[in-house]
Amino acid sequence: MSTTTKVAFTGVSKTFPKKNESLQVLENIDLEVGEGEFVCLLGPSGCGKSTLLNIVGGFERPTTGSVTIDGHEVRETHPQRVFVFQEYGIFPWASVWDNVSLGVRHLPKSEQAKVVQGVIDLVGLTGFEKAYPMELSGGMKQRVEVARALAVTPDVIYMDEPFGALDSLTRLTMRSELIRIWKTRKPTILFVTHDVDEAIQLAERVVVFSARPGRIAGIVDVPMEHPRDLASTEYGAIKRELYDLLGVTQSI
Ligand SMILES: Nc1ncnc2c1ncn2[C@@H]1O[C@H](COP(=O)(O)OP(=O)(O)OP(=O)(O)O)[C@@H](O)[C@H]1O
Ligand SMILES: [Mg+2]
Repeated sequence: MSTTTKVAFTGVSKTFPKKNESLQVLENIDLEVGEGEFVCLLGPSGCGKSTLLNIVGGFERPTTGSVTIDGHEVRETHPQRVFVFQEYGIFPWASVWDNVSLGVRHLPKSEQAKVVQGVIDLVGLTGFEKAYPMELSGGMKQRVEVARALAVTPDVIYMDEPFGALDSLTRLTMRSELIRIWKTRKPTILFVTHDVDEAIQLAERVVVFSARPGRIAGIVDVPMEHPRDLASTEYGAIKRELYDLLGVTQSI
């Protein structure tokens, strides 16, 4: 983990009002994420992972506690902190180029072109600049989303199960591509998943959440170099540790 803290959650709890009662979704989350770190948030459905991203992204306020980025409390959204979701958020009526350039229209044309071409090349879509989303595969559409996020030179990227809709082989490719991109640009990444393997393949640290109300059940380091050997003993041991924290047995 890097020594500079980028994101800090302190005593974060979230309760949503619900008819005559209330629904506690997150309980007392304390977590520090280093600058340039890749952290996966792993937990069962409904444990509050998306809610936590919405809070750090400035879309929701915590009921108690606080979140800071670079030491400043998050109170609103920020143009350099971007989300990448599972659903294709790209505009079907706009070309790859126009989709990717959305967040950088304020730049002078020549600079805009340099930035847009740079991120299109980085995600491996060179040659598809004029293509429309309907002409692209699911994996390529997700690359457009990633390129659009990267175009604004984000310092933090929030990814909420971004590869969940892809087939398993494309998902593997996208994971290794994401690692390559992360190593090139080194943004801080908070990546939500319920997939244990995905978490081990991507993260430097995996934060495991309990079922609702989401609490941190444990934090597991993944001290493996990329590319990671998915058949190694080390990988298997980390997987066992994560399943234990999730309270799931691995045999069926
Ligand atoms: N704006 C809201 N108002 C009321 N309840 C909400 C709101 N947002 C989320 N919830 C509730 O909070 C709980 C946690 O939701 P959240 O989407 O954060 O879970 P999650 O861990 O991301 O789940 P999944 O893995 O299925 O995406 C759910 O029970 C959900 O119904
Ligand atoms: Mg979610």
